[in-house]
Amino acid sequence: MSKIIISPSILSADFANLERDIKVVEKAGADWIHVDVMDGHFVPNITIGVPVVKSLRNVTKLPLDVHLMIENPEKYIEPFANAGSDIITFHYEAVKPENITEIIRTIKSFGIKAGMSIKPKTDVKEILEYLPQLDMLLVMTVEPGFGGQKFMQDCAEKIPTIKANAPENLIIQVDGGINAETAKICTNFGATSLVAGNYIYKAENIEQAIQSLR
Ligand code: DX5
Ligand code: ZN
Repeated sequence: MSKIIISPSILSADFANLERDIKVVEKAGADWIHVDVMDGHFVPNITIGVPVVKSLRNVTKLPLDVHLMIENPEKYIEPFANAGSDIITFHYEAVKPENITEIIRTIKSFGIKAGMSIKPKTDVKEILEYLPQLDMLLVMTVEPGFGGQKFMQDCAEKIPTIKANAPENLIIQVDGGINAETAKICTNFGATSLVAGNYIYKAENIEQAIQSLR
């Protein structure tokens, strides 16, 4: 089995010390850095935007895994790509279905990976047709908006259907309430990338926490 991609979410880091907190997970074996962008409309919370991604690009070589929890994500693909994103993930619920193919094409035109995410209540059957176009499908295992919420097992149960309908190389990522125990549930179902915020950043030993997810 190929390696699980661990993407610590800096939503749980200290925003006054992002460089330090990225170096910490980088040294501890993280594969990607997960950046949660929230606009106060698609989700009730507001976090960070393009200038922060641009600054982070200067302090890490790890791929920047940018999770857009925003309305009208198509408007912001170019600035986030130019800021140095390596993966841009938009939400299925934030776009019109007829625009999805074009949005994916636009993300890929910058030479980066295109991801699409689904919220807990979204029926997986609705998105199966897009899987061949995508590099990554992000299955939310909490309602997007905040770190530190409880894992929803029924969301992870969407993974086998995704896997059965996806090309071999599709990255299946989960995000929300991931810890050593819930990570196992997700990887057993077929997840290949795990996002974790609180579990990694609140751990006493961050290296061990990352290891325990693999
Ligand atoms: C939630 C974000 C997550 C969040 C996960 O809307 O998309 O990336 O940081 O945090 P934990 O791992 O603490 O649930
Ligand atoms: Zn996220």
